Amino acid sequence: MAAVDIIIGSVYGSSVLVAETLEQALTEAGHRVQLHEDAVLADLDADHFWLVITSTTGQGDLPPNLLPLFEEMRECCPPMPQLRYALVALGDSSYDNFCGGGRQFDELLQELQAQAVVERLQLDATETLDPEEPALAWLKGWMTQI
Ligand SMILES: Cc1cc2nc3c(=O)[nH]c(=O)nc-3n(C[C@H](O)[C@H](O)[C@H](O)COP(=O)(O)O)c2cc1C
Repeated sequence: MAAVDIIIGSVYGSSVLVAETLEQALTEAGHRVQLHEDAVLADLDADHFWLVITSTTGQGDLPPNLLPLFEEMRECCPPMPQLRYALVALGDSSYDNFCGGGRQFDELLQELQAQAVVERLQLDATETLDPEEPALAWLKGWMTQI
């Protein structure tokens, strides 16, 4: 069983609810899971599996609680080819830059040579009032690869 770090970017709490739902499923499957709502690199381990769950705010921006980690990684992180991850982006397609925050974080991880085990999940607030449901179905589709 794996150690999983769930890294959350949220303004109003939707991403936190998604994270808690996925945490429960991963824990029931026997994984050791830790939630990070104000992550800094020193709290994280690149040998763990990273599950990043973030909304978008402003005009395609990352939430303030995830921005410090993003900037720390962009400024000083060496390549992380051993890191395996998956990413959920919450957004709203009525905004110009749909899921821009999640996309930025995903692109940074790819630049750092981290390995996505599955394509980024994008959840549109105009289509689903309950993002936990599609997120859980998505997780169940690839969870055995952790
Ligand atoms: C002020 C504001 C700005 C937003 N900007 C964007 C945006 O640029 N792109 C996008 O896809 N969604 C945007 N959203 C939608 C949120 O990302 C979406 O509602 C998400 O589910 C919120 O999750 P959270 O509660 O975890 O922050 C914005 C929402 C607000 C309130």
